[in-house]
Amino acid sequence: MLLSICSSIMSAQNADTHLNIKHLGDRQTIVRSEENQKYLLLPIQEKAHEARLYMIVDNDVVKTINVRLAVDSIDYYVPLELSAYQEKGVAFNIQLVDDSAVCWQTMKLSDTFDTANREDFRPVYHFTPAYGWMNDPNGMVYKDGEYHLFYQYNPYGSMWGNMHWGHAVSKDLLKWEHLPVAIAPDGLGTIFSGSCVVDKDNTAGFGAGAIVAFYTSAGERQSQSMAYSLDNGRTFKKYPLNPIITSTLRDFRDPKVFWYEDTKKWVLILAAGQEMQIYSSSDLKEWTMESSFGQGQGVHDGVWECPDLFELPVEGTELKKWVLVCNINPGGPFGGSATQYFVGTFDGKKFVNESPAATKWMDFGKDHYATVTWSNAPAGRSIALAWMSNWQYANDVPTRQYRSANSVPRDLSLYTADGETYLKCTPSPELLKMRGKAVKKHAFKVDRTYNLQQLLKDNTGTYEIEMTIKNRNAQEIGFQLYNAAGEEVDFTYDLSARTFKMDRTKSGLTIFNKDFPAVTAAPFEAKDELTLRLFVDKSSIEVFGDDGRWCMTNLVFPSEPYNRISFYAKGGTYSVSSFTVYKLAFNE
Ligand code: FRU
Repeated sequence: MLLSICSSIMSAQNADTHLNIKHLGDRQTIVRSEENQKYLLLPIQEKAHEARLYMIVDNDVVKTINVRLAVDSIDYYVPLELSAYQEKGVAFNIQLVDDSAVCWQTMKLSDTFDTANREDFRPVYHFTPAYGWMNDPNGMVYKDGEYHLFYQYNPYGSMWGNMHWGHAVSKDLLKWEHLPVAIAPDGLGTIFSGSCVVDKDNTAGFGAGAIVAFYTSAGERQSQSMAYSLDNGRTFKKYPLNPIITSTLRDFRDPKVFWYEDTKKWVLILAAGQEMQIYSSSDLKEWTMESSFGQGQGVHDGVWECPDLFELPVEGTELKKWVLVCNINPGGPFGGSATQYFVGTFDGKKFVNESPAATKWMDFGKDHYATVTWSNAPAGRSIALAWMSNWQYANDVPTRQYRSANSVPRDLSLYTADGETYLKCTPSPELLKMRGKAVKKHAFKVDRTYNLQQLLKDNTGTYEIEMTIKNRNAQEIGFQLYNAAGEEVDFTYDLSARTFKMDRTKSGLTIFNKDFPAVTAAPFEAKDELTLRLFVDKSSIEVFGDDGRWCMTNLVFPSEPYNRISFYAKGGTYSVSSFTVYKLAFNE
């Protein structure tokens, strides 16, 4: 008797939501949907602990996720798709500590989920997921006029977890169309980072022109798996004999695959502890380890992740050299995540670093990580994309509907300075199409202030500034971007130390994490003329110096657009010989 009274008190039939909820005690709750609708909308509270949710169809578990179900207040909702199971009805077994959590009254069935933007900080011309969490760009591949971007994605909250491959396509690297999730977790684990190739000659036997994806299955251990698509990435089928490469190492991930013409073999490079391992294969399925790279090379103050390996021409020569990209976290020059690289030779089996004593960084900001290049890019281009955040604070940045954006795409080449070969990263030419009318100013000497609001007519916080600076005799030259709220970003050339610095300590919202306020610094070569391109979006600034010979990517969260720029000099003067501002927007 007592038992049945308890269970009727504990079970709730909410007529509005058509959910039958039964709390069973001991952290167990069964929720059954009693009406066919497209989504179960889950209320999320980011501070809550992760609950475990098993989705059950016909008594079998079809999906398992971790979700921060709201306990005392709701930050936002995320949708759980039910449409595939409408015939059979869906139940959920949810393991959550708190029986009295608000999620039980507020989860609801719905045929719609609103993805209209709700974030002031959402960038305009940088890729972001419509909702949910994003980290590394994955599987970037070009095929039949489309650039594919897959990415580390949590569709069930805007914090890291439940790793899937999200998917978007673009014809111009800038305007992205969101597509459904491409690869979802399975019995081998969640889906960590990796790459795609186009198997033109059907070496794997999945079909000529198949897009073949390589990713890390992250279970108790990490192993490499593959999946293929015969419909230009719209759907993927997992290879039944996964995993294809295993190890006893704890950190063993992020396979990047490419074709090596001389040996007519596929090459796979992945991160294995403090090294990169290189494998080869004729059919994309059976892999032989050829070599490893890393001992005594570069920075090792963190985990090596997300490798890439590609050949590039050296400007002004007939030479080509190989570049091995090694993302490292922590251990970056300004704390946390960063991208280092090595330049050398590769013979299909082994990479040799030509200057083992040098440490080379691809970007001198704090928000440039997990950088990899597009496979099969047209016209022999090497196009890189970085995740524009840092593991120190990525989960804390002040957005909710989504978290994290990517950098602008950058075309890579090599240049030589003082006998060393370095990567040059230039904003991909597609970005020129975003430019509105050029607003040019005549050459001027400092000090000078411009009102960007007036120059751009209406400053929405998305613009590019292009300028050339000629030093006369100053010790330090600089400029500031600032707004009426007293928020500012300071840029300085220290001419004796030859470092360019960007200071975001007063840039706007900074207190969400102690590691966010920062000054970052890039070395530059002595020159008569210093050129700069600054890409400002709603919550980031990317600086490209001297035609991409150095670059700096930093997030900023101003409460209103920076709409003034003012120049100053210390210990002498300098002139700005050209200064142009462009509003950046999608010009139809
Ligand atoms: C890099 C990384 C990868 C891993 C992925 C998981 O940011 O840690 O090594 O595959 O993120 O989301």
